[in-house]
Amino acid sequence: MSASKDSIVIETKDLKKHFKELKAVDGVSLKIRKGELFSILGPNGAGKTTLARMLTTVLTPTAGDATVNGHSILTGKNEIVKKIGVCPQVITIYEVLRAEENVEFIAAMHGIPRLEAKKKAKKLLEDFGIAGRKDWSKHFSGGMKRRLNFAMSLIFEPEILFLDEPTAGLDPQARRLVWDFIRDLKSKDITIILMTHDMIEADSLSDRVAIIDQGKIIAVGTPTELKDKYGSDNVLEVSFNKQEDLKVVKNNIQNIPFVVNWSETSRKERKMLLISFQGGLKNIVRLLQQGLIENIDEVENMKFRQNSLEDVFLNLTGRRLRD
Ligand SMILES: Nc1ncnc2c1ncn2[C@@H]1O[C@H](COP(=O)(O)OP(=O)(O)OP(=O)(O)O)[C@@H](O)[C@H]1O
Ligand SMILES: [Mg+2]
Repeated sequence: MSASKDSIVIETKDLKKHFKELKAVDGVSLKIRKGELFSILGPNGAGKTTLARMLTTVLTPTAGDATVNGHSILTGKNEIVKKIGVCPQVITIYEVLRAEENVEFIAAMHGIPRLEAKKKAKKLLEDFGIAGRKDWSKHFSGGMKRRLNFAMSLIFEPEILFLDEPTAGLDPQARRLVWDFIRDLKSKDITIILMTHDMIEADSLSDRVAIIDQGKIIAVGTPTELKDKYGSDNVLEVSFNKQEDLKVVKNNIQNIPFVVNWSETSRKERKMLLISFQGGLKNIVRLLQQGLIENIDEVENMKFRQNSLEDVFLNLTGRRLRD
């Protein structure tokens, strides 16, 4: 079967997992395409890990079904596990093995010949910045353990990769390293399902995002689609030394099509103009060019608040993502 770029690799149909009264996953229907980086974004307890555990055949659903690579999670466990890599939220490493032994152990489980496994493990550990460590992984820092866990999920070159909070607890440098790695995997046409509560991560990496809350998907789309449809406008706040300059700028922006509205306020002695506008970052450049450039020397201060996935969540649920 030849899989075209748009072919569906994962499909869930009204998938549910209840723990007694608690509806952890409550009727999720999704389609994920081949080669897509699809994020499941939601606050703590939303059901992300439970969903991932069902799709990776660790948990049996209460109701509904899903297919992964054409196989049902109810009946096709053996077929599914051959194709998927899983980097779980709870770090799963063998603490009395060294880094490379952990990776080689997983390779052996997948039947990769020993020499090939050694070579691949070395390269992966170099990529993740932990090749130098020769002691038991028990002694690694939390961030190093997480990176090792990630390397273990990649050793057999899976077609589909599940990453459950891969950057949780990482410092900014390690977080960027993991992001770069994910981008690199994406360019190799691997389908990646990323569970995260980090909206910057979801925004910067995903082709599409599903926002999940209390076990239900409340919105699906590209980050831009979601922000355009459910988000807030971007806001540029400009303060001026003189009222006259504010007037000139106000006149200039009246006819800019992507400017939604503006309002004047004054704080202490400063005169401020709050300009709400739509579109991406390009429009901030246009706004400066068309509305502000002549008076730029008279601008006392400028602040920019960008429409974000956090706004989307807030507008859809009335709550912040990190509640
Ligand atoms: N095995 C279990 N038994 C009982 N309740 C469970 C079990 N696993 C998960 N839950 C509950 O299901 C809900 C969803 O949990 P889940 O781990 O899927 O959330 P999550 O979105 O991954 O959250 P986080 O961002 O904190 O990782 C939570 O209320 C959790 O306590
Ligand atoms: Mg989780």
